[in-house]
This record gives sequence, structure tokens and C-alpha cells, in this order.
Amino acid sequence: MGSASQDTYVLPEATAPSLVLAHPTDTEKHRTWTLNHREWGGALALEEYLKREPYFTTIPLTRDGGMTHWILTDSSWSADRGGNRPVLASCESIRKRVLVASPSDNTVHDGVGHGIGSVFTYPEFRGNRYAARMLNELGPALRKWQSDGRDAVCSALWSDIGKTYYAKKGWAAFPSLHVEFLVSTNHQTGESGGDKVSPITYDNLEPLCQRDEQLLKEKLLHTAQKTSRTSVAFAPDHDTLRWHLYRDDFIASILFKSDPSQSQEPFSRGALAGPQGRRVWALWSRNYYGGGSGSAPADNVDKNTLYILRLVVEPEESSEEGEDENPSEDIHEAFAAVIQAALREASRWHLGKVDLWNPSPTVKKLIDRSGFRHRWVERDEDSIPSMMWYGDEDVRDVEWVANEKYCWC
Ligand SMILES: CC(C)(COP(=O)(O)OP(=O)(O)OC[C@H]1O[C@@H](n2cnc3c(N)ncnc32)[C@H](O)[C@@H]1OP(=O)(O)O)[C@@H](O)C(=O)NCCC(=O)NCCS
Repeated sequence: MGSASQDTYVLPEATAPSLVLAHPTDTEKHRTWTLNHREWGGALALEEYLKREPYFTTIPLTRDGGMTHWILTDSSWSADRGGNRPVLASCESIRKRVLVASPSDNTVHDGVGHGIGSVFTYPEFRGNRYAARMLNELGPALRKWQSDGRDAVCSALWSDIGKTYYAKKGWAAFPSLHVEFLVSTNHQTGESGGDKVSPITYDNLEPLCQRDEQLLKEKLLHTAQKTSRTSVAFAPDHDTLRWHLYRDDFIASILFKSDPSQSQEPFSRGALAGPQGRRVWALWSRNYYGGGSGSAPADNVDKNTLYILRLVVEPEESSEEGEDENPSEDIHEAFAAVIQAALREASRWHLGKVDLWNPSPTVKKLIDRSGFRHRWVERDEDSIPSMMWYGDEDVRDVEWVANEKYCWC
């Protein structure tokens, strides 16, 4: 076990039975954020990052206990002694809704899935297997966490350290393909396509999320039948999408506070095109690079990215049934108009590219025929979607449907 006298702590082995998962005090959270600002501060200066992290506990999805902070510490160390008990490793979990369809029945079930983020070990404690120990405790703990007495369906994280570290601990790596559209190579003059799209705002977001969930449930049933595998998706619901948008707003309000040109026309949250029943829409958010330096958006245009959080084709199902069936002309047009809108918005907000994660087979066909210059990227290191499955199936036999950026945390 670890021991402590006054302020001197003897560090325990990572295998010590006295090590436990616990929740950090406010002082400990503050200390952890101060240290991990370099990793996850993006373009925010430390002072702003220290405001953003507690802000998450006030917004949809993560308020009211939706977010949990975890640390690995020694049970013999008191949390009260001036807040200087060592934090051996830390992370967060976010409770999310997941939708599950099994090949053996015709219903989509609602369950709990946990997103895990910010896995971190203080620099002075690295290499001692503390993160490994924390994760080995956390995986089983999340099975029963905030899931109303039932087992959670899964937990997921997005690894920034490659595909093997988390896989060895039970979070299997899933596809990490994205398509990238550079703003600079997809220039169109004028406002071409602008008349065909409507912006998505906070006002029209909720019914689109509801429609998306309805379509996704149909797709899950279809996938489970077609593949004879259990199929799962994170619900692209109003709270989940608003979490991304509120996060984006918080960051942009700081980065653009002294830039009056940006206040004239608000940032659109996405774009929608096509007639009712045959629509295509995308929701997106901005990511400003800065390596925690507090630098200005215009300094890093090449790295700054507009992420398509979710792309919906209404309805996609029939076009995926036949291998040779191609999306109809009106869907092609609507898709092109939406991507064009994303590129325009990216350009206006100092974002050099538009990224879309794991497009479905139908969307791949749309991209290939769209005429937009693009590049396919298989990520090996960053943001690798990784899942631990709490059901009876082997995680490698589970289909993760709509494995897009909106799932990320
Ligand atoms: C990654 C991190 C949490 C590991 O913490 P730790 O307590 O030292 O981890 P452990 O002692 O359990 O494991 C060390 C392992 O992590 C691997 N690792 C650490 N950083 C890595 C990186 N950037 N890329 C790949 N592997 C890495 C080590 O090579 C070692 O591998 P091994 O198990 O094959 O020997 C820690 O280095 C850290 O906080 N890094 C900065 C934040 C970060 O990148 N977090 C992960 C986000 S997904």
C-alpha cells in the first residue's frame, strides 16, 4: 500500500491492492486540468481552459451528473489533507444513450453507453502502469455505473495513442477512416449552391435529431438482419449534438471575442438540402488548433478543421440494399449542396478543411461522384474509436453503426 506522512507520499506499485478508483476533489481537478491543458487546451489559453472544463458540467448531456471525473489513488490517502494527495491517473466518463438491435429480434433497445475521455497520467508518474491499472478498474466499474441497475451496453473511447494500448485492455479498435475536403482545392466562385440549402440552427435542430434517430433505428434493424450481428449506435439525440455545439460556442466566443467581422453573420450549425423525405443534412463543429498556446484562429488555418459531426441521407436504407444501386440524382445534388455549404462555412471561420468520419457505403458513392477534391485518411494514431462491449458477444462481432464524430468525447 502507499503510505503518507505529512506531505511525503510513498508511491505504491500499480498492482497494490490499496489502489482504488475515486472521484477527485475540486482542487485535484484544477491541478489535473492545469497539467493536461497542453494536451487538450487546443487554441485556448490555460486560464480559458480552466473555465471550459467546469462549464461542461452545466450543458446538455454532461450536466446533472452526466459527466463523472475519475482518478486512481491510494485508499490510505485522505482527500482532505490540503488537496495534495497524489493523483496517479485520471479520466472522465460521459453517460450516453445507445441503441442496440440484435439479429434475433425485431426491436431496437435503448441502453446506456459511456464515453471515456482525457485519460491522463501526470508526467512525473508515467511509465508505472498507473493508467493501465485505472483502466482495468474503470472498464468493469462502468458496466454498472449510472445504468439503473442494468448492465451498460458498452463503453467507448477515442485513442490518441494508436490502436494497441487500449485494445490490450479490452477496448477494441474500430474503423478510423475519414474523408478530408480541403477548402483551398475546392474553391467555387460566388454563392453557387447557396440557394439550395437551409442552415441548421438551434431552432430547427431538435426535429432533425428525432428524424435521424428514427432512420438510424431502421438502419440498425436492417444491419442486424443483413450481417447476423448485434448492431449498436450512439443515439444522435438532441443533447448529444447540443453538447458538441455548446462546446464549440464556448471556444469560439473566446477566440473571436475581438474579431468584429465574425459577429455579423452567425456560424451555422449545419446545412440541409433536398425535398421532404429525400433530404440530406450535416451538422458540424469547429476545431481550432493551437497546441494550448492561446494562438489566433487565422494562424493555423491549415490544421483547423470543420468536423462533420453527423451526416444524414433520408432515407439511406434502400440504396444500400442493392450493391449496384446508386443514389438518385436529387440526393447527389442535395449532398453536393451540403458539402459546398460546409466548405463555405469553413472558409469564413479560418478552417482549412472539412472532415467526415467513417462515411457509409451510400455516402462513399456520393463523395466519389461529387466532383469535390478529397483525400481518404486511415488514422493510425489519433482518435481511434475503441469499444468495450458488456454483452455476451465478442466485441469483434458487434457492428458499430454511424461511427461518426458525434459519438466522440
Ligand atoms: C498515455 C498515458 C495516459 C499513459 O500513462 P502511463 O501511466 O504512463 O501508462 P502505463 O504505464 O499504463 O503504460 C505505458 C504505456 O503507454 C504507452 N504510451 C504512452 N504514451 C504513448 C503514445 N503517445 N503513443 C503510444 N503509446 C504510448 C507506452 O509506450 C507504454 O506502452 P507499453 O504498455 O506497451 O509498455 C500518459 O502517457 C499520458 O498522460 N500522456 C499524455 C495524454 C495522452 O496522450 N493520453 C491518452 C489519450 S487517448
